Order: sequence, then structure tokens, then C-alpha cells
Amino acid sequence: MKNYHVAVVGATGAVGNEMIKVLEERNFPVGKLTLLASERSLGKELSFKGRSLPVEVLTESSFRGVEIGLFSAGGSISEKFGPVAAAAGCVVIDNTNAFRMTPEVPLVVPEVNPEAIGLYKNKGIIANPNCSTIQMVVALKPIHDAAKIKRIVVSTYQAVSGTGKKAIEELALQTRALLSGQDPVTKVYPHRIAFNCLPQIDVFMENGYTKEEMKMVRETKKIMNDPGIAVTATTVRVPVFFAHSESVNIETERKITPDEVRKLLAAAPGVRVVDNPAEKLYPMAIDAAGQDATLVGRIREDESIPNGINMWVVADNIRKGAALNAVQIAEILIQKHL
Ligand code: A2P
Repeated sequence: MKNYHVAVVGATGAVGNEMIKVLEERNFPVGKLTLLASERSLGKELSFKGRSLPVEVLTESSFRGVEIGLFSAGGSISEKFGPVAAAAGCVVIDNTNAFRMTPEVPLVVPEVNPEAIGLYKNKGIIANPNCSTIQMVVALKPIHDAAKIKRIVVSTYQAVSGTGKKAIEELALQTRALLSGQDPVTKVYPHRIAFNCLPQIDVFMENGYTKEEMKMVRETKKIMNDPGIAVTATTVRVPVFFAHSESVNIETERKITPDEVRKLLAAAPGVRVVDNPAEKLYPMAIDAAGQDATLVGRIREDESIPNGINMWVVADNIRKGAALNAVQIAEILIQKHL
């Protein structure tokens, strides 16, 4: 079996760290691993399969000989270096917002639209969707296939790790400060996040929605390959370290019962149904953190409309929402296309 030269761009970040871990755990056939970050990380080393590897500074010549590049160093870095890497013959799997809505760039969740991966040939780039969109479409695809979803209303409860390492630190420091009677310092978010909920993720757009909300709307239609699905979202940052939770309400064309939904999802790839209210069992962030599966529960009929279902969807935003999804794409890429 062939081994590949893989680069992780943003290797020192929350998602980059997890990418290295997932490559190792899944025994991805890595021949050489190049770890790239900013000048700030020069001199740092990270471990992969028991070996210490130096972090190198990202430059335009970093991609010579690299076959697969996993990018997670922010949108502007991807915009600049993604095409440079692709021109050097590297297939870019990009975790940022830079290319997600570019028509020629496939936007892929392996459980939903693996066939789109072949379109990497257009630009040498495959986009990894937004974390909150990934877990939602993993749970909704089997229902869409069975009963055709007409409309989705989603509200999210998103962990701070989605913002990166500095946000994880900020929640910890603010919590400690407040519990010790000190003034919390707010740097990463526009307001205090400890013991609070912020109904703003990313910047506001002209229509009054945040960019995160509009990502969920647009990306869902592209991944499901169905521009007709109506989607509306409210995205909220909550003081949780790992795993995003989502309240998802759907309206379907054909009536589908909660039991049918449970059966469909029990057989669906990447999903674990956790739905036993009598035993107080439902998906929780603390259980999803560190796991690969998207947990779905609280499945019940929306009694306010003829064909409606409510559910609660939870997944580790750094794993399925980012690093794992990217490595799963890379696995299909090497099995079917390279
Ligand atoms: P560095 O640690 O050197 O700043 P997070 O999302 O957890 O904040 O991580 C962001 C990742 O993106 C880090 O690995 C960070 O590297 C990397 N990064 C940020 N800016 C640059 C840049 N200008 N060039 C290369 N890597 C960058």
C-alpha cells in the first residue's frame, strides 16, 4: 500500500492538533508528515506515532512533494496558500470558510455526499463544511432520503473550542476569575462567555443574521444537493468546552413517525441514537466530546404541524465537525481517486 506525504497547516491549533491525532488513530498511510504553523511556533515540536516532529514555518515553498494538505489556519491563510499548494500538485482539504461556496469546489461530508470528492480535480481543493452544518446533515440525510425535508429550523449551542485554543483558555480563565471574586478578562469574544450565552457567532451580515447562521443555510443546500430545502438558523455560543448541541426541527413532504426516524438513524453511518427519556438518556456534550459519532435523541413529533419532527443533535465539533471529517475525506480520496 502506498504511503502519502501529508501536511497539516495550522498544526499547533486546536483542530490541527486533532488532525494529527486522528491521522495516527486511524492509521492513515502517512509516509511523511510536515507540520506547518506561523513564525510564533518556530522551535516547537509535536508528537506523531511516538516521534517528535518539528513545526515548520508556512511559506510558499512548503508544499514541494506534499500530496495531501489538511488546512486549518484560518480563512485568509487558506485563500493565500490553498491555491499555491494545489498548483504544487497537493490536494487541499480545507477546513476554513475560504472555498466552501466556490461552485467548482466540492463541499463534502463523507456520510452524505462522498461522490462529490471526485470534483477535487477542478481546483485541487475539497472544502470541509462548517462544524455545526456537518453534524446536522449527518443526522438529516437519511430522513431527507426517506421523507424529503422541506424546511429546517435549527438553533445551536456551540462550544468555545470552535473558536480555537485562545477561546478555550478564555472560558477557563473567566470561570476561575469569577469563582474567585475577580474581574474576568474578555479578549476573544465581544462579551463575557463564562456563565453566559452569546447569540452571535462570527460577524453580522446585512440581513441581520450572523455569518455562521448563513453558513448553515447555504452549506446545507450545497451538501444535500437540494437548493429547495428551506433552512433558518440561530447560532449561539455557550460556555461549553467541547461538542456542539443543536435543536433541529424539520418539516417533511411525506409523514414520518419518530419510530421510523429512530430506525433510520440507528442504521445510518456515523450516527448513534441515544433516545430513552424513561431512563433520562439523551445526547449530551460531555458524552459526545472525544467521540466520532453524531449523537441524536429527543426524537419526537412536532405536534404543531402535520409533518414535523423535533430532535437534539450533538457531536464533537473538533472531531466530526473538523479533523475527523477532513481525514475521512482524505481516506476516500486515496481509496478512490489518487
Ligand atoms: P501558531 O500557533 O503558530 O499561531 P487556533 O484555531 O487553535 O487558534 O489555531 C490556529 C492555527 O493556525 C495555529 O496552528 C496557528 O499557528 C496557525 N496560524 C495562524 N496564523 C498563521 C500564519 N500567519 N501562518 C501560518 N499559520 C498560522
